[in-house]
Amino acid sequence: MKTVSVCFVCLGNICRSPTAEAVMRRLADEAKLADRILIDSAGTGDWHIGAPPDERAQYAARQRGYALDALRGRQITAADFARFDLLVAMDERNVAALHRLCPPGQRDKIRLLMEFVPDADDRWTGTREVADPYFGGADGFELVLDQCEAACRGLIAALRAQVLK
Ligand code: 4NP
Repeated sequence: MKTVSVCFVCLGNICRSPTAEAVMRRLADEAKLADRILIDSAGTGDWHIGAPPDERAQYAARQRGYALDALRGRQITAADFARFDLLVAMDERNVAALHRLCPPGQRDKIRLLMEFVPDADDRWTGTREVADPYFGGADGFELVLDQCEAACRGLIAALRAQVLK
């Protein structure tokens, strides 16, 4: 059985990437691909290692039925490039951090989450980043969820078509 492994990457691993992880788990489950898509998340920064997701991210996610409380922050390492097929970053800053860490020959594994928004979803056409909600208000966390839901739907479709045939 073919499998694919995906690690979502943001700065702190307490807002955006745990949200993407939870959204992707639910969509993989709904698509009956939970045993084929291995899902994790990590941060490029080290400030929140071992910490649970931000309360505001947990609250916003809970309103949509996603539980983030069991997740804990961790920092991405060069070894993650061997463990994962795709490292899916939330913004260009994190793409750049991944490029600095990346072993030779592994750069193709680094992608931006918003690349996977389906063409039909014109809300997000041309949007390349999931913006950092940490220093903003509650609406930023809603936006993160909206973007993760749209892009993870596209990511599941891409994986099903290209990898899990
Ligand atoms: P995240 O958000 O990268 O989506 O987890 C942030 C969390 C913490 C910080 C920045 C962004 N921080 O500066 O501590």
